[in-house]
Amino acid sequence: MIKHKKEKMIVTCALPYANGPIHLGHILEHVQADIWVKYNRMLGNEVWFICADDSHGTPIMLKANEIGIKPKILINNILIDHKKDFSSFNIAYDNYHSTHSFDNLLLLKNIYFKLKNLNLIKEKKVLQFFDNEKKMFLPDRLIKGICPICRAIDQYGDACESCGSIYNALELIKPRSVLTNHTPILCNSTHLFFDLPFFSKFLKNWVFSGVLQDSVSNKISEWFKSGLKQWNISRDAPYFGFKIPNYPGKFFYVWLDATIGYMSTFKNLCNKNKNLDFDEFWCKNSESKLYHFIGKDIIYFHGLFWPAILEAINFRKPTKIFVHGYLNINNIKLSKSKGSFIKARDFTKYLDSDCLRYYYATKSSSNINDINIDLYDLMYGFNSDIVNKLVNLASRSVSFINKYFNNYLSEKLENPNLYIFFINNIKYIKTCFSDRNFKLVTKKVMVLTDIANKYFNDLKPWSLIHKNNENYLHNICSMTVNLFKVLITFLAPIMPNLANKSSKMLNSKLTFNNLHVPLLSHRISKFKFLCKRIDYNSINLILKK
Ligand code: MSP
Ligand code: ZN
Repeated sequence: MIKHKKEKMIVTCALPYANGPIHLGHILEHVQADIWVKYNRMLGNEVWFICADDSHGTPIMLKANEIGIKPKILINNILIDHKKDFSSFNIAYDNYHSTHSFDNLLLLKNIYFKLKNLNLIKEKKVLQFFDNEKKMFLPDRLIKGICPICRAIDQYGDACESCGSIYNALELIKPRSVLTNHTPILCNSTHLFFDLPFFSKFLKNWVFSGVLQDSVSNKISEWFKSGLKQWNISRDAPYFGFKIPNYPGKFFYVWLDATIGYMSTFKNLCNKNKNLDFDEFWCKNSESKLYHFIGKDIIYFHGLFWPAILEAINFRKPTKIFVHGYLNINNIKLSKSKGSFIKARDFTKYLDSDCLRYYYATKSSSNINDINIDLYDLMYGFNSDIVNKLVNLASRSVSFINKYFNNYLSEKLENPNLYIFFINNIKYIKTCFSDRNFKLVTKKVMVLTDIANKYFNDLKPWSLIHKNNENYLHNICSMTVNLFKVLITFLAPIMPNLANKSSKMLNSKLTFNNLHVPLLSHRISKFKFLCKRIDYNSINLILKK
């Protein structure tokens, strides 16, 4: 066996906004990342899985106003909810922090002054939309209009949800104030800009250096064509965020401190864990890896701004950015604003989170296509694959071992070649996990599950019970238990609840390495209920039908 060199890595998901609950769209990203993390941990890699709430910006300020509480109270409450939601899906963060933290403020100021000293922050007077009725400058989220790039209607002042472009609110066609529905007037305001164009050459190389999926690099190269623009990193009051030193009434734009949140969350973890060295992970020539999981709507920030800032302050750049597509439910886009999304909590209220984790895995590959889900389809798939095939395999074979063999597996396998055939798939399964092709993992496991069930059915062990064929019966059932162990080990990163219960039942750890030695003359536990069949009623309750 080739000894695998252990890697050290930070893995992150995009920091969810603290203005609403975690929904199934967020969960897609966190499940994909968590599967990958659990897989890497099974390999023995040192993984630091971190995330935080993105606690600043206009939508949070507006939400707090709407419910009549202070933004700080809102973000504290939401942080508690978000943490609960992720842990209910077994998303195993080492640290889940907030961008509204002392750690983040400290780093942000530090970085801001560095950029300023490098002359990378430019001050410019700009025309900005002003709502004359409300007597305030309008933040991007309070202006709507037609996208100047793709002409989609009803787009916010900063970015188009339809084509993903980032622009200046002044470029919007037919702008109007969300507050009053009137056309805003233009007034002068001083703003601070990060000199993104200075990094054009660096970015053009970096974007094609293999850190991104091809389709993502191509998307970014379209933005190069229209030329990179200075990036406005300031916002006028009223704003919920960090104040810019020496600029009264100005705040840092949420996206600057959000990305810095990746670092400060890790820094915060280092404060709690003295064995961790911040610089080892973030210095320019760090040998550790940095992986970001993000959705396709925030490519611009992660593929351009973030590496440019890191380059500017002489820090390491991400090793890979893994971009996923959007989640649609029954072909309908989930939209916070339209309220058409399913909350994570409404799922776990009725079903085991493994059901969704498995379903997402069957849909996940490394491309950035949107993913459509249908909860009835989830139910059929889960009941057929997991309940009828996989768990049934365990229940039948383990029950025999419990009942007739005093919980002990036999001394040998009935069919060693079939066992070898099973474990010969380890390499393929590992490649699929590494490539984030979880879809192929589930497919392969199901093909093998069918083979295992056929093996058991063909030998009809139940017919051997009273025929003085005890050894043969024992070997067949022990063989089947071992095949089940291979299958559940392959699924362990995807279905942690099922894997934990199975591991207890088998009285054995589930690792890729120990698969090479089957469980023989080994005591297992009594068969325990492993997972529940999904019924229509639960799905209807989730869908509130
Ligand atoms: N706060 C920013 C990210 C800052 S990272 C420094 C943000 N927050 S978000 O809450 O809107 O989205 C968080 C992540 O969830 C993003 O990667 C986004 O793409 C993903 N998703 C949000 N809705 C989604 C779907 N409907 N489907 C799939 N992913 C979705 O962006
Ligand atoms: Zn557009």
